[in-house]
Amino acid sequence: MEKFIVTAALPYANGPIHIGHIAGAYLPADIFVRYQKLKKNDVVFICGSDEHGAAITLRAKKENKSPKEIIDLYHSKNKKSFETLNINFSIYDRTSSKLHHETAQEFFKNLESKNVFNKKTTKQFFDKKHNQFLADRYIQGTCPKCGYNLAYGDQCESCGSALSPTELRNPKSTLSGNTPIIKETTHWYLPMKKNEKWLKQWIEKGILEKKKIHDPKKWKNNVLGQCKSWIDGGLQSRAMTRDLDWGVKVPVEGGEKKVLYVWLDAPIGYISATKKWAKQENKRWEDYWKSPKTKLINFIGKDNIVFHCIIFPIILKEHGEFILPTNVPANEFLNLEGGKISTSRNHAIWVNDFINDFPDKEDVLRYVLCSISPENKDSDFTWKDFQARNNNELVSILGNFVNRVIVLTNKYWDGKVPKRNQTSEEDKIILNKISEFPNKIGESIENYKFREGLYQLIDLARLGNKFLAEQEPWKLYKLDSDRTETVLNICLQIVFSLSVLSEPFLPETSDKICKILNCSFESWNCSKKTNNLKPNHKIEEAKHLFSVISDEKIQEQIDKLN
Ligand code: 2FM
Ligand code: ZN
Repeated sequence: MEKFIVTAALPYANGPIHIGHIAGAYLPADIFVRYQKLKKNDVVFICGSDEHGAAITLRAKKENKSPKEIIDLYHSKNKKSFETLNINFSIYDRTSSKLHHETAQEFFKNLESKNVFNKKTTKQFFDKKHNQFLADRYIQGTCPKCGYNLAYGDQCESCGSALSPTELRNPKSTLSGNTPIIKETTHWYLPMKKNEKWLKQWIEKGILEKKKIHDPKKWKNNVLGQCKSWIDGGLQSRAMTRDLDWGVKVPVEGGEKKVLYVWLDAPIGYISATKKWAKQENKRWEDYWKSPKTKLINFIGKDNIVFHCIIFPIILKEHGEFILPTNVPANEFLNLEGGKISTSRNHAIWVNDFINDFPDKEDVLRYVLCSISPENKDSDFTWKDFQARNNNELVSILGNFVNRVIVLTNKYWDGKVPKRNQTSEEDKIILNKISEFPNKIGESIENYKFREGLYQLIDLARLGNKFLAEQEPWKLYKLDSDRTETVLNICLQIVFSLSVLSEPFLPETSDKICKILNCSFESWNCSKKTNNLKPNHKIEEAKHLFSVISDEKIQEQIDKLN
């Protein structure tokens, strides 16, 4: 049995979850976790709200609320959004908890006691009107890398570059709109240059301290590419603290009115959430975070690659007791109808809205988002494509196959699984093919190729449809009842395999198929067998798994976006 910690980037509790979030990190993570659980591995799946950061305090200010009101609202909203899409975290924690603050502070103190940080006094932007230093999102200006003129002080949302505020051209305070003045302040910096050598070895060869600890061939090219260009460009020290009053307080002398920056806060949230979960489950969190046998997999979007492949590993290694990520399978961005998803322009599809407009279609959304998942490059969600994939793939291929088999079984065999008589050469080929699907799909999932895995699942249903069309049991029935029994038995075994193999991707559908088949399954590997359904086993009546989505319904959504 393998042990995994799977994390999905903690979303800021400053707004609702949209389809870009889901496609970027949470759906692939959930598919991976469901699969590993079916493989009978030991997995803890961690997520929660990131409740700190300037985006939250700014939103609170704008809406005349306290940060606490904002985070309480979005924490529960977002938790619910994930639940409705059946994204099944072991725990959905919050970084405002006492345990998290203590854990992050302990971590900081540990590094401070090892003299990991350099304290540096630098000149920073300061808003005179608000009497406040302007960290990160409190400052906007033109990105020096791509020229985007609404880049934030910590990051350009257009090209994804991590920035420091003084790099911005024409900086403005987002509090007052004024050009800020410059004032001195002291912060704790993480020197990164001295880590370049081991980082390169570790990322590109998987080797750390002469031990091979991961397989770089399993790392995605988009991730390796970004890391390489960062390291080759030379790593600058980065400030790990900020002048803010909302967040985890810097727990040492001189840290008054300063908080830990997201790099020393959010990923430590993965650890504190594991602690909380372990306590609830009566387990030891150290067995996960401090055991070299555990695989740590961080699912994130592309804006967090450097953070998880360079900064977080440096922090973990400097501490010394923790394992490093085995893989960081980051996705690129999902666009919407040809444009960037944007919260501020309300160009987005919010999970809550989707569920209201399409109740019971959570698997359809999972299906479409996985089929267009931005695994290697940015991809585009369009409503027309959503409709086409539902109607032409889920309804016509998967739903149709399952439905036909169940209807035939009820019609000709009184809802009882017929026995398998003599099998032909052709049958043997098809049975052989069926038994190969679990390994094929499993390999795709293990290599973070979720689209490929999903296409294979649909291929299995296609195979079933083709077999049915060739054998025509509805005609055969009158001529050769032995042969019809065999054909239908094989088809039913395919339906059973579909129930197992669809579980990571389409958990609701998998459940529905099980109910129709009146059975359950224990593990992924049971679908390697082709005799799971025994002769005479009674199944239920047919029920449609999916339904056609009309042009009008789609037009409504397009109009809503415009
Ligand atoms: O970028 C973000 O959305 C932050 N909330 C950090 C996410 S990554 C993390 F949790 F480590
Ligand atoms: Zn830029």
